[in-house]
Amino acid sequence: MNIADLQRAHLKNVKGYSTARDEFKGEAKIFLDANENPYGSPLELESFNRYPDPLQLDLKEALGKIKGVPIENTFIGNGSDEAIDLLIKAFCEPGVDEIMVFPPTYGMYEVCANIHNVHIQSIPLLPDFQLNLDSIAEKIKKTTKIIFLCSPNNPSGNCLNREDIETILANFKGLVVVDEAYINFARQRSFIQELTEYPNLVVLQTFSKAWGLAGLRVGMAFSSRPVIDILNKVKAPYNLSTLIQQQAIKSLNQLPQINEWIKEIVRERIRLTQLLQDIPEVIKVFPSDANFILVKFKDPQAVYNYLMQAGIIVRDRSKIAGCEGCLRISIGTPKENETLILTLKQR
Ligand SMILES: Cc1ncc(COP(=O)(O)O)c(C=O)c1O
Repeated sequence: MNIADLQRAHLKNVKGYSTARDEFKGEAKIFLDANENPYGSPLELESFNRYPDPLQLDLKEALGKIKGVPIENTFIGNGSDEAIDLLIKAFCEPGVDEIMVFPPTYGMYEVCANIHNVHIQSIPLLPDFQLNLDSIAEKIKKTTKIIFLCSPNNPSGNCLNREDIETILANFKGLVVVDEAYINFARQRSFIQELTEYPNLVVLQTFSKAWGLAGLRVGMAFSSRPVIDILNKVKAPYNLSTLIQQQAIKSLNQLPQINEWIKEIVRERIRLTQLLQDIPEVIKVFPSDANFILVKFKDPQAVYNYLMQAGIIVRDRSKIAGCEGCLRISIGTPKENETLILTLKQR
């Protein structure tokens, strides 16, 4: 499989922007190449007068120690949303190519495709929120460039069957994106281990969930070198500020704390699932491998409004096909979850 042939035809001849710092090798004492302010910055933060590292090499190296993925197989973006946007921008010809998505799922695949005028082939998940492989095989076309698989899936919370993903990887000739935003809370292992097997596999992960850094905006795409090179070519040269890179590196030292939080959230997910099942308003609590649960209520709108008036905000998914009657509830702290249950009991 030649990944370079998968990118939009005109991009084959496009060279990415070469930054001032890309063009010299060795140690430099004086930087007069990037029209920066030589005196410093007004923020008393070290080196903020200088442009950031466009390839975030220190962050990628530190991340590689945790994820086991080499620098050249790692892309870092302004959230994984940036990677989703760039994948569509780089691999799908507007008005010609299409992506394949499996609703109900994360909305940004569709939003980005619409922004880039890329067709969307939607194949609903089966009632158990698993892939309909027969329908997928039937609907894949020459112009299908990217298949977006969200596992654990937002908003249903379940992992997609591993064998189904492997079947798609083994047979589809375009890119297979496995969005693992919630993988830290899952019982299934990451597809990162399969990267060496499949050059068309892209694994998305994020600092926004388990890592507690949604406000920092750092997301990752792991893939074969040609895919990463294409993403680097089409991205803005300085897509992550120096501050973000420094803070993300710092956060990686806190792995024990993150693992504690993950354990606590999973414990609370199990507890909250049981408590919600005892609430008469609740029809069904769907099993979750994420840090949220999808819950079917008899009257979701009334519950949503009631919770909102009590100052508790949940996500109304009740009008989305496949999620009829459902609210999506993030796992909070034990105290927040207690308040949620007490409030629901008082209705
Ligand atoms: C499945 C999924 N992928 C990606 C994202 C976006 O993550 P980021 O904050 O890294 O852009 C989200 C955010 O909710 C998500 O649910």
